[in-house]
Amino acid sequence: MKAYRAALLRFSDDGRAQYDADGLLVTAPNAAGRETVVAAGAHSQLQADYGQVATEHLTGRLLAPGFVDLHIHYPQVDVIGAPAAGLLPWLENYTFPHEKRFVRHDYAEEVASFFVAELLRNGVTTALSFATSHPESVNALFTQAHKHNLRLITGKVLQDRHSPDGVRDETEQSLIDTDALIQRWHGQGRLGYAITPRFAPTSTEVQLRGAGELAARYPDVWIQSHVEENKDEIAWVHDLFPKSRSYLSVYDDFGLLRRRAVYAHCIHFDDADRALMHSSGAAAAVSPTSNLFLGSGFFDYAGADAAGFAYGLASDVGGGTSFSPFHTMLAAYYVGREGQTKQGLSIRPQQLWWHHTAGAAKALGLGGVIGNLQPGCEADFVVLNPTATPLLARKTAQANSLDELLFAMIVLGDDRLIDRTVIARG
Ligand code: GUN
Ligand code: ZN
Repeated sequence: MKAYRAALLRFSDDGRAQYDADGLLVTAPNAAGRETVVAAGAHSQLQADYGQVATEHLTGRLLAPGFVDLHIHYPQVDVIGAPAAGLLPWLENYTFPHEKRFVRHDYAEEVASFFVAELLRNGVTTALSFATSHPESVNALFTQAHKHNLRLITGKVLQDRHSPDGVRDETEQSLIDTDALIQRWHGQGRLGYAITPRFAPTSTEVQLRGAGELAARYPDVWIQSHVEENKDEIAWVHDLFPKSRSYLSVYDDFGLLRRRAVYAHCIHFDDADRALMHSSGAAAAVSPTSNLFLGSGFFDYAGADAAGFAYGLASDVGGGTSFSPFHTMLAAYYVGREGQTKQGLSIRPQQLWWHHTAGAAKALGLGGVIGNLQPGCEADFVVLNPTATPLLARKTAQANSLDELLFAMIVLGDDRLIDRTVIARG
């Protein structure tokens, strides 16, 4: 058993933040050998039971759940900041040409290694990431994640049309490769596989149908794709799939909406789409820095909450501009202001934080397993230094409530706030 004494942030089942200014976090390997939270709470209440446990004293630090990035592209590390008029020219002029490089395993390995280090430096302990259409790009990322025992879900991108030579795959082989990669990687340690059609316009109906068949055959495997991001993209989907009611319905028509299906963006939904997200159990990956950078639009939080579908925050690097969960939460706040009622506030700081930790875990179907520091959760956490910069020190010292403290870190924070990222062993 191990214990850490510091300020402690965690979430109750209803999503409210619980905070202990002088807290204790106790961890130990569970029956399967994985480091797990045994107890968490006020030091004064836990010291009688756990006073004998070897304790690391982290005075002035704050322990919080590791962040969950619900949608990111590891091959787009070097695409960050590529200027374009919008999504489609950005894909054509920067992203597809860049992703061709991942045909080389040594190149993919180098980027995957950098990517995993960058996640950890930013306090991200679980990520759902795209790879490229090259199966070796998947092997490279899983290998690196496994080395660090990082919880990582990825998959080979399926894109058998409207894609240039070098990233376009071959329909039948793409499905054979996906099946083989699922069997090789899904459930190995902390790794999970995601069936990954890039988005409806770049897959034939045969490929989408095959992806849906695999999803039915492997119900615990994840699905990830993009939907309703950009107006030109949406018009294109309506031309390509005239029989489907909406862009989102295309995925439903091919069996690709279910629990453990995570769709990035979900901006331009109508009420029927929102109801379909809820009834299917699919979740949205809200990617505000990407949506602002590419001028895609604004996610409707109130609409999502009213429909009751799950969503969580995501960087969407390289359409997104930062690995830092603090930057993503701040952008989510700005986007929330767009939809606010006249007298209402944007999203509360503790809600933003929940959507990037326990709420994102719930959206992945991993609620109670990761993204929180309640007993039974895997012991992935960050050690935050609220005095990491002079301005942070000044601002956090003046916080009069938990929301003020969290908001100071969301607004002023970046990788400097992360003193250490602790990944559960085993
Ligand atoms: N739609 C299809 N591919 C992509 C991608 O790589 N990034 C984003 N943001 N949207 C997409
Ligand atoms: Zn994306």
